[in-house]
Amino acid sequence: MLDIQKIRADFPILNEKIRGKQLVYLDNGASTQKPKAVIDAETFYYEHQYANIHRGVHYLSQIGTDLYEQVRRQIQAFINAKHEHEIIYTKGTTNSTNLVAYTFGRKFIQEGDEIVVTEMEHHSNIVPWQILCEEKKCILKVIPLQQDGTIRIDDAEKIITPKTKLVSFTYVSNALGTVNPIKELITIAHKNGAKVLVDAAQAIQHFTIDVQALDVDFLVFSGHKLYGPTGTGILYGKEDILNEMPPFEGGGDMIKTVSFKGTEFNDLPFKFEAGTPHIAGCIALGTAIEYIQNIGLENIYQYETELLAYATQKLSAIDGLTIYGNAQQKSSVISFLLDGIHPYDVGVLLDNQGIAIRTGHHCAQPVMDFYGIVGTCRATLAFYNTKEEIDMLADGIVRAKKMLQ
Ligand code: ALA
Repeated sequence: MLDIQKIRADFPILNEKIRGKQLVYLDNGASTQKPKAVIDAETFYYEHQYANIHRGVHYLSQIGTDLYEQVRRQIQAFINAKHEHEIIYTKGTTNSTNLVAYTFGRKFIQEGDEIVVTEMEHHSNIVPWQILCEEKKCILKVIPLQQDGTIRIDDAEKIITPKTKLVSFTYVSNALGTVNPIKELITIAHKNGAKVLVDAAQAIQHFTIDVQALDVDFLVFSGHKLYGPTGTGILYGKEDILNEMPPFEGGGDMIKTVSFKGTEFNDLPFKFEAGTPHIAGCIALGTAIEYIQNIGLENIYQYETELLAYATQKLSAIDGLTIYGNAQQKSSVISFLLDGIHPYDVGVLLDNQGIAIRTGHHCAQPVMDFYGIVGTCRATLAFYNTKEEIDMLADGIVRAKKMLQ
């Protein structure tokens, strides 16, 4: 059993009053709040240990380098990667996906080849492939959505063929909460000789991920949705594939030697980490992961599953409210609309009551097009949310409905 009140006390912002009301933060899919330990880790580094890394013989530079590399090993263990150099620091999920599109994509995907995504992808897992397809004249194929917000394995089996070079899909839909049958999709892709990228931006904070057990080729996620700082993210890739890929950006740290005759690139992971990174952020991301591990991902999963069931039941009971995304396997997202009412209006009225949700297309416009809607209201849950907050959301929606009808 989690002691939620004790956990909440670790997050200073949860005590804030918004428009005179106690904050009810239900926009965790967009970004999670930070525990004091994470905020302190970043401050402590700047106040006591700061210098650039990988570049100095002096004491501070070595301390920073050690901390930064230690977090890399921590993340390796967190997702059970085989090697620490399979963990590449990036700016976030979008940056990680673009890295794969620009390097793996440009080297290994040719005219007429196929890339497969699902209809529920975030724009960051659509647009990089569209840009690549435009340039390389390859073809983007889409596994269609079903009414309940899931995809069918039968469709995946038809759409993924030996022509497919990459299958790139989300573990959990940010707009609907659907948890995809990831193991089956990876098996189908590999059977056809395709590589697989999994977008774990909405999964990594909710349950355990083991990249070796999944046999996934690339896994991408952001630090800021994992209770860590913005501007941090991870690309996991299998060693042999990363070694075959050309660098993404050129600059300091990613080289062994440079002359005007030519440049020798550095080994993994540094080949993909040009320039001074977000050192303080990466160090604090390590603190965030430690914080989560102390609570326990099993406990988090269990608590959030109960909370989602409670929220689904509370919101379903509201007359005229439709929930979008009813997959059996669902995680921490409730997307909904009130009959005849624009989601933005509901969002503004909830905000007036101190309740933060996201409204709009959630960077997943194809999902909205599928349902023929402009967008939804979306409440996304974290382990610091409570049933009382869900009650406040439900009451807030009823109040908004009365005002808007
Ligand atoms: N991708 C984030 C969301 O779903 C920003 O809100």
